[in-house]
Amino acid sequence: MMILLCMAILFTFTEAGVIDKVINCIVIGNVNYEREILLNNVESPYQLVIDHDTNTLFFSYTARSDEVFKSAFINLKTNEFSVIPGIHGGFANAVNYHAHVVYLGGQDGIYQFDYNAKNATKLKITQDNIWQMFYKNGLYFTTYPEEKAYVYKGDELEEVAEVKDHRVMVIGVDNDGNLVYTNSSGIFFTDKETKQTTALSFHVANAITNDLVGNLYISTANGIYSVNATSKSLHELVKIDNIYGVAMENNENIIYSSENSIIRLKPSNKMCIDEKLYGKNVVDMK
Ligand SMILES: *[C@@H]1O[C@H](CO)[C@@H](O)[C@H](O)[C@H]1NC(C)=O
Ligand SMILES: *[C@@H]1O[C@H](CO)[C@@H](O)[C@H](O)[C@H]1NC(C)=O
Ligand SMILES: *[C@@H]1O[C@H](CO)[C@@H](O)[C@H](O)[C@H]1NC(C)=O
Repeated sequence: MMILLCMAILFTFTEAGVIDKVINCIVIGNVNYEREILLNNVESPYQLVIDHDTNTLFFSYTARSDEVFKSAFINLKTNEFSVIPGIHGGFANAVNYHAHVVYLGGQDGIYQFDYNAKNATKLKITQDNIWQMFYKNGLYFTTYPEEKAYVYKGDELEEVAEVKDHRVMVIGVDNDGNLVYTNSSGIFFTDKETKQTTALSFHVANAITNDLVGNLYISTANGIYSVNATSKSLHELVKIDNIYGVAMENNENIIYSSENSIIRLKPSNKMCIDEKLYGKNVVDMK
């Protein structure tokens, strides 16, 4: 029924000669989101994080030349792409939005991004191989291959007490200090007050991120979800195949990465036709 209706609309638009209004987009909730490619031909872009002050998206990818992880960034206004020199195997990224500090994790510890020199300087925090990082009133990070979670705060480094008996691959913290993390068993929520742990999903998250007001979002290989701390559950925003990571640009735009590109989803008032269903037809009719 739905498909028939869409066909009818498509037909009408074709008749009226305004087929170019039809775009490649996705419906999230009741809103149409237009897909805009920010960067193409970048291998396995992981761990997206945005410095909102400077509209810079930091991420890690696998360089084709030497098969090494590298940290890089794009300017979200100009889409200009740069690799950050000075890091050994840059894989993790986090931003302290308030203090405007960008942390980059490599295979031998944690670095700070220097905005003037556009390079990275090593910090004296750890020598561990960093898998993922998240900033919320402290720098949270996980290590590889140990899969342990630490928090660095006020010059002190300690294991995250609530999860020190478990493996943790990716961790995030909400405004109330509740932990959301993933390991090979699934995605979990640990309540800050009660210390109770709830399983949110038996899938594995590849990214946990927050928006400017501190709401948490998760991506798995097949979808993007928001975390509801009240109901201790995940709310599916959108299903997309082959997701590698996600970041919230502002209260409207979602940026995610796939196998070899970084894509922005932005609200659009144009008509929405899903490329998967109509891709061929739409292209043929142009
Ligand atoms: C970063 O760049 C500055 C200015 O070019 C240079 O002085 C500094 O040594 C560089 N730092 C590293 C760690 O490469
Ligand atoms: C993952 O975390 C959950 C919740 O803390 C725990 O029950 C489970 O044993 C952990 N899995 C691994 C492999 O550590
Ligand atoms: C979170 O869950 C609660 C309880 O089920 C619900 O009342 C609330 O609307 C949910 N919040 C969001 C943002 O969906």
